[in-house]
Amino acid sequence: MTQKPDHVRLYIPGPIEVRKEVLEAQTEWMIGHRSKAFADLYGRLQPKLQQSFYTQNRVFIFTSSGTGVWEAASRNCVHDEGRILHLVCGSFSERWAEVSQLNGKQVDVLEVDWGLPIVAEQLADALKQKHYDAVACVYNETSSGVINPLAEYAKVMEGYQDTLFLVDTVSCYMGAPLFVDEWGIDICLTSTQKAFGLPPGMAFGTISQAVLDRAKTVKNRGYYFDLIEMDKHHQKNNTPATPPVSLMFAADKQLNDILAEGIPNRMARHQHLAEMTRAWGTSAGFGLLAPEGYRSPTLTVFENTLKVDVKALNGFLRGRGMEIADGYGKLKDRTFRIAHMGDMQPTHMEELFANIDDYLATNHKGNGAN
Ligand SMILES: Cc1ncc(COP(=O)(O)O)c(C=O)c1O
Repeated sequence: MTQKPDHVRLYIPGPIEVRKEVLEAQTEWMIGHRSKAFADLYGRLQPKLQQSFYTQNRVFIFTSSGTGVWEAASRNCVHDEGRILHLVCGSFSERWAEVSQLNGKQVDVLEVDWGLPIVAEQLADALKQKHYDAVACVYNETSSGVINPLAEYAKVMEGYQDTLFLVDTVSCYMGAPLFVDEWGIDICLTSTQKAFGLPPGMAFGTISQAVLDRAKTVKNRGYYFDLIEMDKHHQKNNTPATPPVSLMFAADKQLNDILAEGIPNRMARHQHLAEMTRAWGTSAGFGLLAPEGYRSPTLTVFENTLKVDVKALNGFLRGRGMEIADGYGKLKDRTFRIAHMGDMQPTHMEELFANIDDYLATNHKGNGAN
């Protein structure tokens, strides 16, 4: 008889599996956030975060998930009557546009069919039409598994120095190539529960000097996500309000491990896991939603061409200690998603594929005849 698994390993695009050692790092005794011990912790994280984002810019710590940094970026970088261009290619990029709108900004949307990337020429054309205070884009669209050509956007943005370049890397940070300074990114944001390999509840944003200069000219920056206020505290290795101290201990441990693996190695591992996943899925008969050249290294979105009952499949997988994700938003019924991010290893993927193959062989007859 097979042993009951001790937990369910998550192959969903967040929260993802967190290694036990990293979970345990959260059990350090609590420290006061105005203490020297806290300033030391904050100060230890800063150069490691800068290294991981390939930036000399400040990296702010947000006591929120990634959505909070969306709000901070929209609110601080766009004048009250200013205009922001959102590149929309899926549910998450669409939601960020909504955040800007709900913060009272004028929003223009450049949208493509979900499953497609937005190419740099489309961005270049849009920027020729109007002046924007900022451009906001999602590097890795978690609903469609598309990775957008960010390096090419960066070349276009070079021609628009007054337009801030805001980038969401929530589902690919440290899993896909990312060079914040070389690409002139003004805010690069991520949250902890995805390729970073930490529990949810904290987010990071790199903040350029241009962002702070802009924020000073924006009247209604709000309170909790006022970047000027955050910067005053950042200068003292501190945060304006109580931060998630336990998560910061975990981040300290995880960043040490990530830097020991080496970021280029980590990215190469993600690429390898993505290739394994695509090869397995296509040989099983599923289609790939994203076109060649724009497929995410951190998650794969399959067209459910075999019409597998994903809910039933997940029920089966959970019994074996694993779980995948169904489709998201408009793509819910057509697709399913497998994340291969964070600290996943090839053996973890092989184990998942073998179990899905078992399910397909024993429970699924194909063409909807489950
Ligand atoms: C690309 C992307 N951006 C933003 C978000 C929202 O981030 P959070 O859930 O950390 O607020 C998500 C969540 O899945 C995401 O995938």
